[in-house]
Amino acid sequence: MSDDRSATDRGVLYATTPIFYVNAEPHIGHAYTTILVDVATRYRRLAGDDVYFLTGTDEHGENIQKAADAAGTSPQEYTDRVAGAFRAAWDRLGIGYDAFIRTTEERHKKVVREVLQRVYDQGDIVYGEYGGLYCVRCERYYTEKELTEDGLCPQHEIAPEYRSEANYFFRMEKYRPWLRERLETNPDLIRPAGYRSEVLSMLKEPIGDLSISRPRSRVPWGIPLPWDEDHVTYVWFDALINYYSAVASEGLEDRYWPHVEHFIAKDIVKPHGVFWPTMLKAAGIPLFQHLNVHGYWLVEDRKMSKSLGNVVRPLELAERYGNDAFRYFLLRDMTFGLDASFHEVGLVDRVNADLANDLGNLLNRTLGMLGKYRDGRVPPFGPDVAGAGALRDRFLDLPDRVVEQVARLQFDRAVAGTMDAVRAANKFVSESEPWSLAKDPEAAGRLDTVLRTCLEALRCASVLLDPVMPAKMAELRHQLGMPGTAPTLDDAKRWDGLAEGSATRKGDPLFPRIDRAALEAAIEVEAPAESEDEAGGAAPVAFEPKPEIDIETFAACDLRVGTVTACEAHPKADRLLVLTVQVGTETRTIVSGIRAHYDPEELVGRTVVVVANLKPVKLRGIESQGMVLSAEGPDGRLSLLSLDRAAPPGSEVR
Ligand code: MSP
Repeated sequence: MSDDRSATDRGVLYATTPIFYVNAEPHIGHAYTTILVDVATRYRRLAGDDVYFLTGTDEHGENIQKAADAAGTSPQEYTDRVAGAFRAAWDRLGIGYDAFIRTTEERHKKVVREVLQRVYDQGDIVYGEYGGLYCVRCERYYTEKELTEDGLCPQHEIAPEYRSEANYFFRMEKYRPWLRERLETNPDLIRPAGYRSEVLSMLKEPIGDLSISRPRSRVPWGIPLPWDEDHVTYVWFDALINYYSAVASEGLEDRYWPHVEHFIAKDIVKPHGVFWPTMLKAAGIPLFQHLNVHGYWLVEDRKMSKSLGNVVRPLELAERYGNDAFRYFLLRDMTFGLDASFHEVGLVDRVNADLANDLGNLLNRTLGMLGKYRDGRVPPFGPDVAGAGALRDRFLDLPDRVVEQVARLQFDRAVAGTMDAVRAANKFVSESEPWSLAKDPEAAGRLDTVLRTCLEALRCASVLLDPVMPAKMAELRHQLGMPGTAPTLDDAKRWDGLAEGSATRKGDPLFPRIDRAALEAAIEVEAPAESEDEAGGAAPVAFEPKPEIDIETFAACDLRVGTVTACEAHPKADRLLVLTVQVGTETRTIVSGIRAHYDPEELVGRTVVVVANLKPVKLRGIESQGMVLSAEGPDGRLSLLSLDRAAPPGSEVR
């Protein structure tokens, strides 16, 4: 790894996920936060920073005890099993965590007891009676204002129960003015800003003291208080300390604690935004750097829950669509801080459009042409070709931009920016027409430039997308003929990263197209003939008009301007091409019987006219979501309709 910065100016990051409860198997929400932190830490590693990534499991408390009882096992056996399932899931999803902490580990319990004792000794923990509305699932008390209009827990939509207990209390209220001040003077502490405001408004009124113990007679599954063994530590007090115990128990607190950033979803803002900072203050431990809060994944626009039966299992998706494609989708389709809705069809469309078409197609066509024209070997740059310099500048601008966007948690934009550059590379191919250059011996140098430009674009894209899709990007670099060493950000800042004359290794498509129709399963029309969707026009002689229609009938046909963003041969039919067409904001896959008439490469970037509301049909296993219009000339050659003046994709054709 080339890192020319000195050890002192090397950035440091200690990033954490929540530690997940072990009373459920991992679902897409748990996977999202964990993949997000994996991606964030991989970007920082790419930049050469010193990174520590912690995840783990939250294993104490009433709920876990109940889940173990229900499973007919001891809590220890039960937590061992589910914690194992979490670890296995993260391994399967390619998560490169550095440490996994379980709250039942001795190293954690020891630190929890030390922190408790310290806070108790200084008089910030007192004994008292408390009564209030308690959600057993959240394991916390709620004030009436925090409940829903119907008086239910906002997370679980169940009625809280009234509880009163003699407990130990942490004097949280005492630290409220301090916390308010910290948030006011440190606007970035909790981000995005909406969640900071949420916490600030919680702090406008007294927050009360926090009950931090449970009677051991009722909840034996917990850490006994060091000064009173009849009580165990409240699960949140125990759990939050994991972030510190994980590094303190390994002697890493000096190195990493000053750089700690927590990543959570909006459900646990209060414990992290109010309990945790006040606990740290009381314990004399410096505050975290940032609390980064993301939104919720909804499922088909509804909250995900066991009772609705709509829990999305990440491993199944990774299995079905490929792990890296799944990771890409999660990062690309959620804006940090906002909710996003998961639709499986949306995942398929995203993967087909961006990965199978844009990125996969650039790799395929580049290596295809390289094989055909240059024996698969990396050519030198030749004389300048229009657009090549602009494309190089565009790629070389990306690394700094991506690093900045990742620092601002704009993962979706970082990924989208890189994919836009990939699309520009496809456009460059169509505009520079390497297939025409190949026919002209005088243009050999320019053909070299075009091919080499595409190869460098692919190499740079593979570096910038490596944190999101580490396995596939390594495969891409393998196909480019590169050695298997891990890339660095500097690799994306040069335009001469491939060795001239080295052999590429064209392989299977990186991202095979996913059959969207199979998912919808509604329309299962197998094409009787490959050219079924061709617009067949007869010679202008024997023109027999079809039955008359009125203007409304014509208007029912939605004709639109489209731009071909990718195109490849149909894998199962030698007369069909599979086009990816941008129609307004939509991306359509259109199968068309024009393969005998057009090279896939020459269509990318072209304007076409699309029938946009045609019922989708499956043509040799690929769903065609529309039709491109063409006319047949006297020699039987098809000619695609285009416009003689520019109109943006999506414009209506009337
Ligand atoms: N054990 C506590 C956290 C203690 S941290 C000191 C807990 N566990 S949990 O298993 O319920 O995990 C909550 C976290 O899971 C969320 O903050 C988020 O990271 C993730 N998600 C759970 N459901 C989610 C969605 N539907 N969408 C996105 N992330 C979600 O709370």
